[in-house]
Amino acid sequence: MGNLLTMGDLSAEEIKKILADANNFSKDEGWAPNQSAFIANLFFEPSTRTKSSFEMAERKLGLQVIPFEANTSSVLKGETLYDTVKTLQSIGLSAVVIRHEKDRYFDELSNINIPIINGGDGCGHHPTQCLLDLLTIHQEFGSFTDLNIAIIGDILHSRVARSNSEALMRLGANVCFSGPPEWFDRQIIANGSYLPIDEAIQTADVVMLLRIQHERHQEHLQLTKQQYHEQYGLTIAREKSMKPDSIIMHPAPVNRNVEIASALVECGRSRIFKQMENGVYVRMAVLKRALQTPMEREMEYVIID
Ligand code: CP
Repeated sequence: MGNLLTMGDLSAEEIKKILADANNFSKDEGWAPNQSAFIANLFFEPSTRTKSSFEMAERKLGLQVIPFEANTSSVLKGETLYDTVKTLQSIGLSAVVIRHEKDRYFDELSNINIPIINGGDGCGHHPTQCLLDLLTIHQEFGSFTDLNIAIIGDILHSRVARSNSEALMRLGANVCFSGPPEWFDRQIIANGSYLPIDEAIQTADVVMLLRIQHERHQEHLQLTKQQYHEQYGLTIAREKSMKPDSIIMHPAPVNRNVEIASALVECGRSRIFKQMENGVYVRMAVLKRALQTPMEREMEYVIID
């Protein structure tokens, strides 16, 4: 139906098709649905990038954006997520984007008949962040095969780590992990390796830092911000040991001088703001996929790489 809930919904060919479409959108290529389309963005967790770049993508595609604010909706009167989305389907919405604090919130929406695009579910998945990261990496290196990707930080609570590691390994990259042992996730790192941070940074083509997800922590790590930075962050000294052509990524928001030295956020090898720009193009491509019929999608089959 055009749902995008986890990266597991997409074959490698579909991922490449979305990246090709996003690349075309970055070059101002246009696309419009066959008929008027109405979209709502349901964000039950805070967001700057994902929410505003979805809205930008929707407006660039000429879609009708129906305002929805969780804190003024009937959710406050106890309406369930299912009844909220069913209501929006009933009044004629074409698709919805949802971010929710509950892992796999979408399992309770299996009877909804309009496409659902996951804007992040708890510690679960963040497929559009993954796709914009893939686009950024592909623009840089032209392929994923045999690239060394180091994912560093709060792996246990990170939906970005889960979506990215799964997709990158499937596309042929070598993924290693680093960070505080308290934040390992055996499931996520099962098919990758664990390296001490200095080794991970020296061998990586992509150093992908993760935000510390304080809001999801049951107990505090016994480290100050400065201790975390020194032990697990990308310090000025560590950046000097990176390979000449390797790049820095972070999904943001960034905790400056914790996960990464503030001076490195906009340094020459940082792609952090490029990732945000790419978010608009990738979300245009994901919305296009959601609003096309299966036959329209089949007819546009393209392979990059
Ligand atoms: N990267 C990301 O998801 O940012 P927001 O939480 O601001 O949407």
